[in-house]
Amino acid sequence: MQALKVLSTEEKEALDSPRISADYRQSDFLGKVYIESYGCQMNFADSEVVTSILIDKGYGTTSNINEADTILLNTCAIRDNAENKIRHRLQTFKGLKAKKPEITIGILGCMAERLKTKLIEEEKLVDLVAGPDAYRDLPNLLEQIENGQKAINVFLSKEETYGDIEPVRLHTNGVTAFVSIMRGCDNMCSFCVVPFTRGRERSRDLDSIIKECQTLFDQGYREVNLLGQNVDSYQWKNPETGESINFANLLEKTAQIHPDLRIRFSTSHPKDITDEVLHTMARYENICKNIHLPAQSGNNRILELMNRTYSREWYLDRIKSIKTILGEDCGISHDIIAGFCSETEDEHKDTLSLLEEVQYDFGYMFIYSERPGTPAAKKYPDDVPEEVKSRRLAEIIELQRKHSGIRNNRYIGKIEKVLVEGNSKKSNLHHYGKTDSCKVVVFPKGKEKIGEYVHVKIISCTTGTLIGELVN
Ligand code: SAH
Ligand code: SF4
Ligand code: F3S
Repeated sequence: MQALKVLSTEEKEALDSPRISADYRQSDFLGKVYIESYGCQMNFADSEVVTSILIDKGYGTTSNINEADTILLNTCAIRDNAENKIRHRLQTFKGLKAKKPEITIGILGCMAERLKTKLIEEEKLVDLVAGPDAYRDLPNLLEQIENGQKAINVFLSKEETYGDIEPVRLHTNGVTAFVSIMRGCDNMCSFCVVPFTRGRERSRDLDSIIKECQTLFDQGYREVNLLGQNVDSYQWKNPETGESINFANLLEKTAQIHPDLRIRFSTSHPKDITDEVLHTMARYENICKNIHLPAQSGNNRILELMNRTYSREWYLDRIKSIKTILGEDCGISHDIIAGFCSETEDEHKDTLSLLEEVQYDFGYMFIYSERPGTPAAKKYPDDVPEEVKSRRLAEIIELQRKHSGIRNNRYIGKIEKVLVEGNSKKSNLHHYGKTDSCKVVVFPKGKEKIGEYVHVKIISCTTGTLIGELVN
């Protein structure tokens, strides 16, 4: 097991399977495109931009791979197993290609960017390779393939934000949506491939973000999730007025769209999250009290080797500010890497003690996976044996489960405001939604509709889900 978050059934289903494009425009003339998306929320948001670009040029999309003229995989490169999943998926397309040689198979996203021409040369199955900043070029690339060539664009841009493109929402519940506010990453965490696959950090212009959120609200959406690798370093200057907008300002302006529009965001970097952001969150009821604050390790020597640029003490000071400004009920989650280069048993114990000290609501936990070309791969041997990494990961997961249980138990007897997101996957007689703090709540249906707010009294819980009943 490489990664585990303590998840609700709804979330598990969403994560276990890739996201697939929906049917769009049946009477298309340029052919049907099927898109499968892997990786993080930013990749899912990118697939919505890709769909918009293709539909605009006259393509249709389909959710049925068998009727596709083009198959696109939007890929992730964060860990070795993410790439293996894609290689495996490509192998399964061999049969399809044999039956239908004219079908185009393309790779988008971070693995495309990392491997560039290698995918065309080695995996003879791939006709098209497009990196995260090359999506506007997709119609041209598809045309090149029509003319019998292979097509590749892995150019990384310093400016591209796709700010002017209105994403076509895929697989939407009509209630919650992702909105990219920036791209790339300028941090150089030594283990991480993202700066190489997504390029330099750039922020999207404020007006297009607000317009997109307003449109979503007008269409009935009630939650936007502002996305970036490091949202706290959002920075945009209005070219006309010279006004500088930071992340706290952006949060405030988004919150002012409507009190019924909930705002969430990820990911925050511990070195950058400011008290100004926390105070802005406290001022607006509709900015959800929930922060994803990846720690990666609880040990200072390891944090330094990781080049995270903060110490355990700094991290804990940020947690203290969150709890002071937003209260003990603010949801806090983490990312942890087990078995980073040269990590000793005592250093691993420091991670466990960090978990004990913070008592997170949940976390994403991973085994260190060396990524070629990253600073860690160049400088530090990947020397913690696999079985030690797995055992450490299991210990971290077990402790997190315990804390998730403790944190969820605190809700029993409380009344929570819940945004209804859909039918519970387990039963059509139940709805599910989320609390302000991002806890999934399942409750027997009443008269409420999807997209409405209800009050739910929490009566029991598991480590991943709260179970409740409607309060009139
Ligand atoms: N920008 C975010 C995280 C992006 S990647 C941040 O800075 O926190 C999501 C998570 O994947 C990271 O937080 C890290 O825990 C994990 N990760 C990244 N590279 C990894 C690697 N080489 N091996 C294992 N986990 C990794
Ligand atoms: Fe990777 Fe670090 Fe950037 Fe996050 S902040 S994407 S972990 S380099
Ligand atoms: Fe994966 Fe790229 Fe996201 S490497 S985690 S899809 S930024």
